[in-house]
Amino acid sequence: MVLKKAVWLWAAPSLLTSFVIGAPTAENQYALQAGDESSHPTSQRKLHGRFLHITDLHPDEHYKVHTSTEENIACHRGHGPAGTYGAETSDCDSPLSLVNVTLDWITANLKDSIDFVVWTGDSARHDSDEEIPRHNSEILAMNRRIADSFVNSFSDDKGLVVPVVPTFGNNDIYPHNILMPGPNKILKSYTDIWKDFIPEEQRHSFEYGGWFYVEVIPDKLAVFSLNTMYFFDRNAGVDDCASPSEPGYQHFEWLRIQLQFLRKRGMKAILMGHVPPARTSGKQLWDETCWQKYTLWLQQYRDVIVGSLYGHMNIDHFLLQDTNEIDFSFLEAESADQQVNTRESIEDEISVASSKDYLMELREDWAKIPDPVKGPALENSGKKKHKKWKNKLGGPYAERYQLTLISPSVVPNYFPTLRVFEYNITGLEDTPTWMDTSRMSHRKSASLPKPEYRELELRDVPEVDIEKKKKKKNKGENGKTPKLHVPDPPAEGTPPGPAYFPQALTLRGFVQYYANLTYLNNDITTGDEEDKMSSTGWDAGKHKDKKPKHDKPKPKEFEFQVEYTTYDDPIYKLKDLTVRSLLRLAHRIGQTSAESLGLSEDLEQEEVDGDEDEDEDDVSKEVEYQDEDQDEEDEEFSDGDVDAEKKKKKKGKGKHKGGKKQRNTKIWLHFLKHAFVSTRNMDELKDLK
Ligand SMILES: *[C@@H]1O[C@H](CO)[C@@H](O)[C@H](O)[C@H]1NC(C)=O
Ligand SMILES: *[C@@H]1O[C@H](CO)[C@@H](O)[C@H](O)[C@H]1NC(C)=O
Ligand SMILES: *[C@@H]1O[C@H](CO)[C@@H](O)[C@H](O)[C@H]1NC(C)=O
Repeated sequence: MVLKKAVWLWAAPSLLTSFVIGAPTAENQYALQAGDESSHPTSQRKLHGRFLHITDLHPDEHYKVHTSTEENIACHRGHGPAGTYGAETSDCDSPLSLVNVTLDWITANLKDSIDFVVWTGDSARHDSDEEIPRHNSEILAMNRRIADSFVNSFSDDKGLVVPVVPTFGNNDIYPHNILMPGPNKILKSYTDIWKDFIPEEQRHSFEYGGWFYVEVIPDKLAVFSLNTMYFFDRNAGVDDCASPSEPGYQHFEWLRIQLQFLRKRGMKAILMGHVPPARTSGKQLWDETCWQKYTLWLQQYRDVIVGSLYGHMNIDHFLLQDTNEIDFSFLEAESADQQVNTRESIEDEISVASSKDYLMELREDWAKIPDPVKGPALENSGKKKHKKWKNKLGGPYAERYQLTLISPSVVPNYFPTLRVFEYNITGLEDTPTWMDTSRMSHRKSASLPKPEYRELELRDVPEVDIEKKKKKKNKGENGKTPKLHVPDPPAEGTPPGPAYFPQALTLRGFVQYYANLTYLNNDITTGDEEDKMSSTGWDAGKHKDKKPKHDKPKPKEFEFQVEYTTYDDPIYKLKDLTVRSLLRLAHRIGQTSAESLGLSEDLEQEEVDGDEDEDEDDVSKEVEYQDEDQDEEDEEFSDGDVDAEKKKKKKGKGKHKGGKKQRNTKIWLHFLKHAFVSTRNMDELKDLK
C-alpha cells in the first residue's frame, strides 16, 4: 500500500508536465528526420471532420479455413464452414486474413479522410480451445503485431500521419479479466507495444495505471484512453473506485485533474475504453462505485465531454446514464465496503440470446424515459414550463442524461464492422493538426509560449451542486470528511457542451461499414436456413451444419460496404448524435416494450397537463424539436392498419395507446437488426421477441 501510494505521488507531477508542454511533443523517431518539413509554413494535413472507431479484432493465428465452428474446436480443426475471412455469426475468432484485409481496406479507403483513430481493444484470441490454451507471451506478441500493423497502416515514410488511440480489452491480458494495480509487467509491456501512440511524457503514468490521453487536435480536442479493467466487475485483482488505495479511485482522480485542465484551456474531450458502463435494472459490467463516479464526473464535466465510445459487447447499441441515479452513499470510502451490488454482472462472452435479454432490459428501462420532443424549446429556459422539465430532462438540453455509444466488432460474431464518425469542425478548418505538431522540430516546439500553469488543489470538502436530497446523504455535512473530491461543475453561465447542443466538435453522425462474409467467403449456399440460435454458451453460427461448396476456397475480393448511416436512416432519423437526439430514439424504442403499456398512461397524462400551461410562443418554439413528418413515417413502416391508426389519431394526440405499441414495433426490430449487424432476417428477429 505504502509503495503504491508513493508511486502515485511520484507519477502525478509527470502528468502535470504534459500540461506545461501544452501540445504533444514530437515522437522522437521522426523528430530528427522532420527537419525540412518543420519550416514549411502550411499545414501538413487538414482536418476532415471524421474519425474511425475500430474495436475487438480478436485475431487468431490458429484459425484454419474450412474447419469446424463447433465448441472447443473454434475453427482450429476438423471440417466445416469456417470461411476465408472468418466464420460469421459464430463464436470463432478472426483469421489473420480478416485483420489484414480490414487494415488494407482502411488504408485504401479511410486513411486520407480521417483525423484520428479510436481503437478500443481486444486484439488477441479468446481462450476457447482446451487443446491450444492461451499464454501471456502469445497475447503480447499478437498485440505487438497488430499495433505494428496499425502503425504501418497510418504512416507515411516518416511515421504516423494519423494519431491512433488504443486501450486494452479484457482479453489482452493474461489471465483474462485480471489486471492487478500498476506498475506491473503487463502495463510495462503495453507501454512499449504502444510507444508510437502514447505521448512520451505520459509513458510513466501509463506504466502506473494504463491510462493516457492524446491531443488529437492540439489545444482543441483530446481523446482519453480509459483503463476500464480497473472498473470492470469481473476483474478480481481490484476492488472498487471508492477506496483511495484502489487503482480505479486513482484513475478517476487523474481523470478529474486532466478534465479540469482541459476546461481551463477551453478544450474538449472524447472518452473511450473497452468495457462500457453497461447497467440495466438487473445487470451491470462495472463495479457500482465506478459507475457512480463516472456518471458524477461526466455530469460535472458536461461542458467538456464530447462523447464516450466503447467496444467489448459486439452488438451495435447505445446507453444512457441517468444522473438521477447518482447516489453519494456509494462513493464514500468508509461505506464502500458495505455496499451490496444488487445487479448481476453481465456474462463475459454474451450469446445472441443473452444479448437479446440484455437489449430487452435496456428497452424496458427506456420505457421510463420522457419524450424529449415534448420538452421545452431551447430558447425558453427561463419559462415556467422549464421548471417541470428540469426534473424530467435536466433542462432543455437533457443534461440529466449521458450518452455512451458502443460499436460492434471486427470479429465476426455477426458481420465485421467499422464505424466512421463525423464531427463538426466549423471554425477549426485551419487549426494546426496532430501531424503538424508531431513533425515539429524540438527547437520549434521549445519556442512555443508555455500555457499558464497553476497546480490544481485537491479539495477535501466536496463542492455541492447536486440536488439537495443527495446533499443530505453526504457525510461531509455531519462533520466527517468524505474521501470524495467532487469535481467542479461548469462555471455559472457556461453554454451547454458539445454532447448537448450542436457546436464545433459535436458528433454529427456515423457511417457504419460491414463486410458480408457470407457473400465474400463464397462458400455457403444460402436459403432454406433453419437458424437455431444458441441460447447459452458457444454459438457455432448460422452455417454450422453446412459444408463449403468449393473444396478450395474461392473468396470474392474483400470490401466493406455501408450497412447504414445515422444521417439518412429512415427509421432512426437522427439529425445529430446529441444526447437529446438519442434520448428521443431511446424513448421511441422504449415505447414498444411491454413495460411501456403500463407506464405510457402516466407519461401521457403528464404530457397533456404540460400542454395546458403552454403559452403561445412556447408552441411555436417547440416546433424546433418536433419532427413534423414523424407520425407519417411511423405509419409508413407500420405493421398495423394505417386507416385505423388515422382514426385513432383524429381522436386527439397522445390518446392512441392501443395502437401505439403495434405502431412502433418496426423501430424495435430495426434496432435489433442493427444490433446484430444485419445478420438476422426479419423473421428471425421477430422470433427473438
Ligand atoms: C498478414 O499480413 C502480414 C504482413 O502484413 C503477413 O506476414 C501475413 O502472412 C498475413 N497473413 C495472412 C493470413 O494473410
Ligand atoms: C457546427 O458548429 C457551428 C459553430 O458552433 C454551428 O454554428 C453549426 O450550427 C454547427 N453545425 C451543425 C450541423 O450542427
Ligand atoms: C449477405 O450475402 C448473402 C449471400 O450473398 C445474402 O444472401 C445476404 O442477403 C447478404 N446479407 C445482407 C445483409 O446483405
